[in-house]
Amino acid sequence: MTPSGPSSVEPLTTAARKADHIRINVEENVSGKGITTGFERYRFTHEALPEIDLDDVSTATNLFGRDLQAPLLISCMTGGVPEAEQINCTLAEAAQERGLALGLGSARILLESPQVLPSFAVRRYAPDVPLLANLGAVQLNKGVTVEDCRRIVDLLEADALVLHLNPLQEALQLEGDTNFGGLLKRIEALCADLDVPVVAKEIGWGINRDLVRKLFDAGVAAVDVAGAGGTSWSEVERHRLGSPVRAAIAAAFADWGIPTADLIRDARRVAPSGTLFASGGIRNGVEVAKALALGADMVGVAGPFLRAAVAGRRRVLDLADELVGALKMAMFLTGSTDLPALRLGNRIIDATGPRPEIVRGALHYTSSRAPDFIDITDDIQDMVRGAGIQEGLVHIASTHTTAAIRVNENEPLLIEDFSRLLERLAPNGHYHHNELERRKGIAPDEPQNGHAHCRHLLLGHSETVTIQGGRLDLGVWQRIFLIELDSPRSRQVKVQVMGR
Ligand SMILES: Cc1cc2nc3c(=O)[nH]c(=O)nc-3n(C[C@H](O)[C@H](O)[C@H](O)COP(=O)(O)O)c2cc1C
Repeated sequence: MTPSGPSSVEPLTTAARKADHIRINVEENVSGKGITTGFERYRFTHEALPEIDLDDVSTATNLFGRDLQAPLLISCMTGGVPEAEQINCTLAEAAQERGLALGLGSARILLESPQVLPSFAVRRYAPDVPLLANLGAVQLNKGVTVEDCRRIVDLLEADALVLHLNPLQEALQLEGDTNFGGLLKRIEALCADLDVPVVAKEIGWGINRDLVRKLFDAGVAAVDVAGAGGTSWSEVERHRLGSPVRAAIAAAFADWGIPTADLIRDARRVAPSGTLFASGGIRNGVEVAKALALGADMVGVAGPFLRAAVAGRRRVLDLADELVGALKMAMFLTGSTDLPALRLGNRIIDATGPRPEIVRGALHYTSSRAPDFIDITDDIQDMVRGAGIQEGLVHIASTHTTAAIRVNENEPLLIEDFSRLLERLAPNGHYHHNELERRKGIAPDEPQNGHAHCRHLLLGHSETVTIQGGRLDLGVWQRIFLIELDSPRSRQVKVQVMGR
């Protein structure tokens, strides 16, 4: 394998950084400060009579075609330095023994120094569970090719490639790669060309719902929202940065990021059927259960597994048993025999009450005649779905004075009647507004459209529709129209979705 990109960091630097990362994560308090995962805001509804047997509760699942005993992932951490070899072997043996998925650390160092392969090559210790290779997405902007990615996957015998998005970490590192421009297109190209699934993850500051949607549109097989409240990489880097100024900059980001619990809920709303991983600060089995109930398919834990691996295989097994044991009990106490049941209904509630949200967007149309009744109902429904709001209102407004928004029936003969009604009420004839010589500051191509303005005055510029269960609460025959009243042209409709 050849070193990729013209400005690859010296292998020694990469290795030294990785060794630092392990040491700092083991020795220092690297949790985010002044921010939490948000799981403390959620509570399960306790079932005093669950009507099931604890022994029947199953945490089994499947990821990328491989069976798992629990939806638990030992998140991507390390590789490439001598101390990583023991850690990865220990984690791999435990993952195999407990039927858990395992992620490996960034394989960029493997592109630079093929001799570090033994610290990553753990498939023989974990032959049956999903094994995930890892690479910084930004490396795709630094000359790493699809062929390089394929080589990494093949060498590690991985089931998938995880791309991490870590702009804040790169910005803090003296040697960081900060050109994230045009990366989504490269991720899309990689997803199309690579033979294994591509997963996108953050490293502890979170992937917001707009990006979740864009990543799934780009073709990723899964998104790990990897939110805030757990390991904070600005805190890790703070301990490495020699200069007090840079350490102070890192310290300012101790509470950066989006709480993990909020990210899961938001991501599930915009990606109802996408495979979602949750990680970032998940520290016990009840939090694993909360992450699953909020919508995650897999739950990742990193820092605690690193510290356990350094202490030995027994500690890793104990941690796995603790997480899965409490998950199983939480399922029992909510009457959930399997993982789909845990996600059903109202098993989990936001103890702080629902938080209203406002999501804004715009739609663009080109009219072809006047009047032109353009049925925009489906587009509005799509925007409501994308906003993820279940209960609330959507306000739909034309940004023009000769294009109206109205609710009525989409029946062709009726639309002819509407056109004739408009012609009767405000005929296309003489209007003061059309006496262009009497008006000031008009454009050279100013249209004579007094009739269109008068028609717009009668119809109005907006409608508000209630949302129930994530759907527009319209009657059977009701449709939302953008009504062109002037002449064929481009039109904008602003949409504001409000609710929870
Ligand atoms: C020592 C260490 C090394 C890590 N290296 C990587 C990495 O190479 N690639 C990656 O995607 N995430 C990496 N992470 C981030 C984790 O996968 C995870 O997203 C993050 O630590 C949050 O989870 P936690 O709060 O359970 O630790 C690393 C985490 C630790 C603790």
